[in-house]
Amino acid sequence: MHVSWDIETAEKGGYDRFMLKEIHEQPKAIRDTLASRIKDGLVDLSNEVALSPEAIRNIEKIHFVACGTAYHAGLVGKYVLEDLARIPVECDVASEYRYRDPIITDKTLVVVISQSGETADTLAALREAKKQGARVLAITNVVGSSVAREADDVIITWAGPEIAVASTKAYTSQLIAIYLLGLYFAQVRGHKSEAELKEIISHLGQLAGLAEQVLEYEGKIAEFARSIADNEHLFFLGRGLDYAVALEGSLKLKEISYIHSEAYAAGELKHGTLALIEENIPVVALATQSSVFDKMVSNIQEVKARGAKVLGFAVEGDSELQKSVDEVITIPKTIDLLAPVLTVIPLQLFAYYACIQRGYDVDKPRNLAKSVTVE
Ligand code: G6P
Repeated sequence: MHVSWDIETAEKGGYDRFMLKEIHEQPKAIRDTLASRIKDGLVDLSNEVALSPEAIRNIEKIHFVACGTAYHAGLVGKYVLEDLARIPVECDVASEYRYRDPIITDKTLVVVISQSGETADTLAALREAKKQGARVLAITNVVGSSVAREADDVIITWAGPEIAVASTKAYTSQLIAIYLLGLYFAQVRGHKSEAELKEIISHLGQLAGLAEQVLEYEGKIAEFARSIADNEHLFFLGRGLDYAVALEGSLKLKEISYIHSEAYAAGELKHGTLALIEENIPVVALATQSSVFDKMVSNIQEVKARGAKVLGFAVEGDSELQKSVDEVITIPKTIDLLAPVLTVIPLQLFAYYACIQRGYDVDKPRNLAKSVTVE
């Protein structure tokens, strides 16, 4: 018997495309990124973050700086660090940051996020920040990359090699690194009690298993993706952390399916976007954040009243949303802060199946590169 397998097929490990393989590798990437960083129920980053407890207590401002999907991880980081460690955070795309003369002092911590560690703008922003006296911490997936070598501190995301141009497991691993950083800083700065921290960390430990459950919705998501694949426009809505995830979902869809999509903070609907909602426009509405759930339900009703076809995302047990949407995807229960890790997975699958339905090359979208090493 002769079995013909080329190297690429072998590397895809039985999946048709790298992107699908990498989406399915997320539970492992989450576990690997957490492993060895939790000790006695608390986060310990002292091996990789050399900042002294005093230096951590002295941080007055954090700047997250990155490009593309990594920038969207930084947007989640803003909510997470402000919530857990109560440090004011700004988040910039590197190509803006490097040219806008940001206010940096020796009490500013600049956190650059880069899967490859080689993105030209991110690297230039890192160098600019160092020149101005900031301490730079890098979150990267590549040991020994330029970003890893030049930063003062490095947190490696153990996602493994990511081949598909559209980033998936690198993003969820970046979120894990951000949670670890937020919890570590919260601990050192005394912003949460040990019991509160341990409670959050125990939920963090459950995420990989919950991500496995989310992957089981693949069939339902594929079906919805197929039903909207002929549309040329689509909107994503969310509030708070859901808004940050909506931006990433929208980027995924644009990158590989070439459907024009925009993500909006749902509270901004009335300030313009509502004018674009007409009969049968697909809207993906994320409603996983309990503090703004009722607000999201009214936003959904506003777009439904104008004929939108709504795919809603709710947390298990929220039967309320079902009444207002056309289809619902249920995210397993976790705490609001950690929901982005679970919400983004169906959005990645959604983009993937929309792309397949439209017949495009998932792993190598037109005009895009995996790593942008020139400006
Ligand atoms: C390119 C890739 C994106 C990635 C971005 C930043 O645009 O296609 O997937 O998010 O670069 O890359 P980095 O390696 O710095 O995370």
